Amino acid sequence: MTDFRWTRTQFALPDGVTYLDGNSLGPLPVGAPARMQKMLTGEWGAELIRGWNTCGWMAMPRDVGDRVGRLIGAPAGSVVMGDTLSIKVYQALAAALALRPDRRVVLSDSGNFPSDLYMAEGLLGMLGQGYELRVVAPEDLADAITDEVACTLVTEVDYRTGRRHDMADLTRRAHAAGALAIWDLAHSAGALDVDVAGGQADFAVGCTYKYLNGGPGAPAFIYVAAAHADSARPALSGWLGHARPFAFEQGYAPGAGIERMRVGTPPILALAALEAALDVWDAVDMAALRGAVAGTDRPVHRGGRSRLPRARARDPARPRPARQPGVVPLCRRLCRDAGAHRAGRDRRFSRARHHAVRGDAALPRRGRHRPRGRRDRAGDRQRRVGPPGIPGARSGDLTDQADFRPAYRLRAAQSRAACPKAAKSGRDTGSSDAFHSGCHCTASVNPGAPST
Ligand SMILES: Cc1ncc(COP(=O)(O)O)c(C=O)c1O
Repeated sequence: MTDFRWTRTQFALPDGVTYLDGNSLGPLPVGAPARMQKMLTGEWGAELIRGWNTCGWMAMPRDVGDRVGRLIGAPAGSVVMGDTLSIKVYQALAAALALRPDRRVVLSDSGNFPSDLYMAEGLLGMLGQGYELRVVAPEDLADAITDEVACTLVTEVDYRTGRRHDMADLTRRAHAAGALAIWDLAHSAGALDVDVAGGQADFAVGCTYKYLNGGPGAPAFIYVAAAHADSARPALSGWLGHARPFAFEQGYAPGAGIERMRVGTPPILALAALEAALDVWDAVDMAALRGAVAGTDRPVHRGGRSRLPRARARDPARPRPARQPGVVPLCRRLCRDAGAHRAGRDRRFSRARHHAVRGDAALPRRGRHRPRGRRDRAGDRQRRVGPPGIPGARSGDLTDQADFRPAYRLRAAQSRAACPKAAKSGRDTGSSDAFHSGCHCTASVNPGAPST
């Protein structure tokens, strides 16, 4: 059993903040400052270069990798930390292509995060030789897996819509077609009970600054299935992935297993901050977490299959179902708050959103919030059309806007339901403060974050 009341006390948020951006940067673990201080003065300051051995720095990417591995269903010794997620995507992709030398297609979907597609584009461009990045609609992925495909490169949870792909099913299809499956867990690690081993993923990558609360720029991770661990060719053959890094040999020889996916000197300070977050995660049962996020006490996974909606082909003729009763009115309030949040980035655009949320037929044409430029005009048209097919939604509601994802709505609904003040809130403050919203409750939607 996980005590989520306790885990909430282990993260710091400024007073009065309802934080909905854990999907981008998780909040600060309360243990991080002390851990950093110990690292700075007790380890770096006191031990200097000896710290690589006496403080276990050299082993940290593996040790921390094992702790992250538990959260994604990976066995010990199959995950290593380091670099950024984009780099890990490149590594996984290059290794997968080398394992399928007779195939030329990398299959991904248009819901993938741009950096994954850019990295694939860059790598395939370098390789030449007829390599192709094939990008299909998310609902067409399964059917697009053919015997031309060397590997699939899919982000499990779509960063815009919250759509979750079925890892086990797509991987099974990839394997049946002779392809390998690479999974990007940036938006699922720490949010869902991911199971890379059970899902038979060949490679998995992810970052730790989002739901895992490792802090800005926290290192990424890579998982390699045991079947490939000693045969995967590390395209980024840095010295710390060498079998004998301190022999300083002239030629490269890949290290054993997951060690070969290391590249250069690990970011020890960042790993220390991540360790503080993992001290909390160590107490979290991932199946229970999913249940808590879904608003139920019990795990929602049974026999390895989720009961929650997963990526599915959507018939455009059929109305999109509202997934949670009461979510539309809550979403209206949320959109209003989110508009205040977005104001930090583009005040005019957010002002337009507020009007759209209120269902105003016309946006102001004068004054400092007048929408300008093609992007705003296109957004304006889109907002006026509203979301067809959502029961209870009116023209002008923002419930279908890509950046207000279902996951936000669901989690926010739960945090608001837990806070009586929330019912009275939701006013548009017009604040450009990145966090501040009309809601003054501190119930957080992040599973680890504090609540009153
Ligand atoms: C799905 C996904 N892939 C890749 C990246 C890029 O990560 P990084 O900036 O750590 O390279 C992100 C960043 O948010 C992401 O969400």
